[in-house]
Amino acid sequence: MPVTTKDSAFVRACRGESVPHTPVWFMRQAGRSLPEYRKIREGVGMLESCRRPDLVTEITLQPVRRHGVDAAILFSDIVVPVAAAGVDLDIVAGTGPVVAEPVRTARDVARLRPITPDDVRFVDEAVQLLVRELGATPLIGFAGAPFTLASYLVEGRPSRTYVKTKALMHGDPALWHALCDRLADITLEFLRVQVAAGVSAVQLFDSWAGALSEADYRAHVLPHSAKVLRGLGDTVPKIHFGVGTGHLLTAMGEAGADVVGVDWRTPLDVAAGLVGGRAVQGNLDPTLLFAPPAVVAAEARRVLDEGAKAPGHVFNLGHGVLPETDPDALTRLVELVHAHGR
Ligand code: CP3
Repeated sequence: MPVTTKDSAFVRACRGESVPHTPVWFMRQAGRSLPEYRKIREGVGMLESCRRPDLVTEITLQPVRRHGVDAAILFSDIVVPVAAAGVDLDIVAGTGPVVAEPVRTARDVARLRPITPDDVRFVDEAVQLLVRELGATPLIGFAGAPFTLASYLVEGRPSRTYVKTKALMHGDPALWHALCDRLADITLEFLRVQVAAGVSAVQLFDSWAGALSEADYRAHVLPHSAKVLRGLGDTVPKIHFGVGTGHLLTAMGEAGADVVGVDWRTPLDVAAGLVGGRAVQGNLDPTLLFAPPAVVAAEARRVLDEGAKAPGHVFNLGHGVLPETDPDALTRLVELVHAHGR
């Protein structure tokens, strides 16, 4: 049994060290697929619940207790630090982040002030509570990467085409870079607070980067994500993830992560060849959890066999748990991953 989080299967796999079993956790494991989550969130808004350390602690622990996953992920949201920076926004159920006044001009960018640890005191408090409760189970901190955050700020709400975001990127590159530079500073500060409070790893979510060509990613996005990842130094393992990024995996690895997250479209053995000797995380299709257990098991074994070709493999879904997922399917999947190869 690991005594500290540094000996845990999760941290060891991130670092490409030998593991007793493949570690597993799920993006969006803390959330709407769990009845105990829906109950505790009754009548409490999403942003408000992120700001209450007692609620954050309980919600973060729920999937660890229920599924026996190898890591907890802090209950929060990628827009929490931009709200702390003074942006008027809400997280609307069933829609996602909605920004009152989208950011499109130099004046809008100037209004986006840097954050200090005092602006996110509640995160520091929640992480400290969680680290005490979790013992040798690692806690993953996270933040949104500059591009994905910018897409919400510029569009004002979730988008399919990112038309306003791309128009700004190409129409006024100087303003685009000023916006992303400011977001990188906010993100870095938000992650530093989590690392100082004791998280064992961080994940930088660039969920929507897959909408970009590799050339645009390298010119307009990579330098800002790299500022965040390199700014953290080697304090904790860093995971970098996006959806639909098969064509970006090499570039995303170069941004400076230890582990590159992969969605279900790219087999992990192929991904391993693209990420420059880094560990990989993924990548069972989240919709497969709605298939019969024997199908889930066969697909999970394929993912494990493909992941074994990388220097390190953290089992996960290719994107977040869908709200309608049967929690028992997740518990069974954790058991299967842990038993594999024994
Ligand atoms: O992974 C976890 O369990 C930790 C908690 C977590 C949440 N959001 C809680 C949440 C994490 C890591 C996130 C990150 C996040 N938020 C991302 C990156 C991950 C990804 O999915 O690609 C993005 C793009 C967001 C923005 C966001 N917040 C969206 C698109 C939504 C969904 C809107 C909806 O209701 O369908 C949210 C809301 C949100 N964040 C919920 C949760 C549990 C649902 C709100 C609720 O329960 O009322």
